[in-house]
Amino acid sequence: MKEKIRIGFVGCGQFCRGFVPIFKAHPAVEYIAVCDKFPERAKDYFDRFGCDRIFDTYEEMLASDEINCIAIFSQRNQHGEMAIAALKAGKNVYSAVPMATSVEEIREIVRLVSETGLTYSMGETGIYRPAAIFCRQKYASGEIGDLVYAESQYNHDMSRLYHTFQYTEGDAWRKMAGLPPLYYPTHSTSMLLSATKAHAVRVSAFGYEERKDTDIFGEGKNYWDNPFSNTSMLLKMSDGSVLRVSENRRIAWHFPETYITCFNGTAASYECSLVQHSFVRAKDKTVEYENVSDLLNPIELTAHKNDSDFLERAAEGAWSSAEAPIQRVDRLPIELAEVGTGHAGTHKFMVDDFCQAYVTGKLSPTNAWQAARYNIPGLIAHESAMQNGKTMDVPDLGDPPQGIEVLSEDREVNPNTYDEYRKENRK
Ligand SMILES: NC(=O)c1ccc[n+]([C@@H]2O[C@H](COP(=O)([O-])OP(=O)(O)OC[C@H]3O[C@@H](n4cnc5c(N)ncnc54)[C@H](O)[C@@H]3O)[C@@H](O)[C@H]2O)c1
Repeated sequence: MKEKIRIGFVGCGQFCRGFVPIFKAHPAVEYIAVCDKFPERAKDYFDRFGCDRIFDTYEEMLASDEINCIAIFSQRNQHGEMAIAALKAGKNVYSAVPMATSVEEIREIVRLVSETGLTYSMGETGIYRPAAIFCRQKYASGEIGDLVYAESQYNHDMSRLYHTFQYTEGDAWRKMAGLPPLYYPTHSTSMLLSATKAHAVRVSAFGYEERKDTDIFGEGKNYWDNPFSNTSMLLKMSDGSVLRVSENRRIAWHFPETYITCFNGTAASYECSLVQHSFVRAKDKTVEYENVSDLLNPIELTAHKNDSDFLERAAEGAWSSAEAPIQRVDRLPIELAEVGTGHAGTHKFMVDDFCQAYVTGKLSPTNAWQAARYNIPGLIAHESAMQNGKTMDVPDLGDPPQGIEVLSEDREVNPNTYDEYRKENRK
């Protein structure tokens, strides 16, 4: 039998906090180690989560026989390099998004995974967002028909969140905060591509040159000389559809932040506005309308839908982090029932994907090939935006090797369902 997961976390920062408890509770995991370049952060995690060991450096962790898997939670521009080093050291990899910030690094990750057969899974919240699940299921059932046009975006106004960069970067935080928005495209792209499994062929993009926070965005202001705080790309896809994807970092919008605005097919369409989710099927000369809001909105949010200030509170993001009925929490091991989730109920699904892929030898839904298709379009699109929208080819690294099953995002229910638990707790 395959040995259990013995995982080392690199990056004991703000995001990783939500994940150590989930991994620790997962029945496939038996050992947790931590490492951070700020030793006090690793010590805090060690004490708080009851970890097995602290490593002083990432290199020591990679060299250790105690570890068979690495979870990467360092800053955005470090994931590619760290994943490559981990794969070269023979470790399986769970990586926070993005996969990497260069096409070369992504190629290398795909090459190493292909060569070694190690598990690679990118922890992409987008594919378990309720709207992504809905569009994927409707597309798979044939109800959508052919996809014609779709729009998604990640509206993440950083002005409220600059302190999150200061936490690790100190005085140099602006250099990191100026990351080109399209270097972090996977939340938006994955929501659409996980339904169709098509890949981008051509791209053209335009950016909004930041006018206010010019100490963050502009030549010499960040590691990438990036002038854009908001960027949108138009993608021509391999299935003939056209997608508009926007990555906005300075925008007066709060919730929903990662969402599909429309998913328009030849037979039916999904559309969303704030908390109103609509599904419309073509019927002869008219249409059939279905309000699917209660299926897609978090259960807590729906419980408040008759409040007088419901829309105002919803626009602020109230009740938005919990699970929605469309999310198959009964797919997850019962051991995860007591652990907290985050990002619209997506965290446990991502952890379970990695663990199930490792245990079964199948590929995670966000395997290296699929993650590449989510990530590369944005990297090319930023180049396009820097050249005033020049249309460019998008390289495709192909499908996973034939003969290795890819776990479905919407796979069968785990026999140890925790539905009963949830019902009990909602009485
Ligand atoms: N929805 C999502 O999927 C989502 C949300 C938030 C963050 N993230 C991703 O998670 C990652 C972490 O974000 P965060 O907000 O926790 O950042 P953070 O700055 O709080 O944490 C990063 C940690 O990595 C540590 N680190 C960096 N280099 C290291 C090294 N060589 N060795 C050991 N430790 C090292 C830093 O000291 C820091 O503690 C980011 O890359 C971000 O893209 C994803």
